[in-house]
Amino acid sequence: MFSKSLLFFLVIYTFSDLSYGQKDKKFFRKDYTYIESVQSFYKIHSVAKTFNNAKQMCAQEGAMLYYAENVEEMNAVASFWNRTQPNLPWVFVGLTDQMAEGFFETVDRRPISEVYSRWQRFQPDNHLNNEDCVHMDLIGTMNDYKCDSKTKFICKKTLQSLQWNYNCNMPNLDYIYNQDIGKCYKLHRTPMTWADAYAMCQIESTSLAVINNQMEADYLAKLTKTTPEPMVAEQYQQGIYHVGFHNRFREGWQTVEGTPMNVDADIWYKNKLPQNCYEECGSMFFNGRLVTTDCNMKSFFICEQKAIATTSTTTTEPNEESYML
Ligand SMILES: *[C@@H]1O[C@H](CO)[C@@H](O)[C@H](O)[C@H]1NC(C)=O
Repeated sequence: MFSKSLLFFLVIYTFSDLSYGQKDKKFFRKDYTYIESVQSFYKIHSVAKTFNNAKQMCAQEGAMLYYAENVEEMNAVASFWNRTQPNLPWVFVGLTDQMAEGFFETVDRRPISEVYSRWQRFQPDNHLNNEDCVHMDLIGTMNDYKCDSKTKFICKKTLQSLQWNYNCNMPNLDYIYNQDIGKCYKLHRTPMTWADAYAMCQIESTSLAVINNQMEADYLAKLTKTTPEPMVAEQYQQGIYHVGFHNRFREGWQTVEGTPMNVDADIWYKNKLPQNCYEECGSMFFNGRLVTTDCNMKSFFICEQKAIATTSTTTTEPNEESYML
């Protein structure tokens, strides 16, 4: 009895360390660095984007375009920036007066007076009546700047705002765990081309869903049925969902992992493996059958997350037995 309890306790202890420990472990995503003194995660993006695209990219990563709360944070981030990308002169920060000229606020709509700001001399000047966004240098000096000029940027996630999807072992709560398959899925309901869908899953640190067998196809078909289609103004292929296979390299149909497609013929639409055709991208019908589509056509799409650390045991609370020790 004693050893059984001990074992049980150890199991609980092990799993609770994995499941409840994200805030203790201080992990958000592999591409973000945690800075202890300011209790937040940061990523310096090395591909320059317009202000709005930078803001959107941070949001898609589950974070926010960085602005400093105070001089301590500005210094902490500057030190990280100087250590990792010392030659980067400017970054966009999450401050803008796009809403009302001359009224600068943060991207989450706080007045600039509540956060760090130190303008360069004679700035902001709204030069040529075309500077509604803000960039900052390594020493924390700010200047208003054209929103559509592509600039590098930093995304930020506070430890406080971090929520953890325990079943999927990731910070994104939109992913739904399927225990039988051992994967997590998210049905995206913004139509995109196959390539943009592929990139979107990557941004979420996942990948376009790979369908390996009938069980997965059936589950994804069910998922599309239980997720009603919203009204979308633009043209897209209704009832078709981009998934993770393609023939973009003309090397034969393969999964996004680079392995040849190896599923039973009857998972394909009309029970037929695709012949060489101009349609080079992979999709799924609402009924779970695989189809090939024109890569330029927009569709909803499905991302998947494979690496699942634990099973449903993660939510087990210690019970009486564990106190018998
Ligand atoms: C960046 O790092 C270099 C080398 O450590 C240092 O000399 C320089 O003062 C730093 N610059 C800023 C702005 O902190």
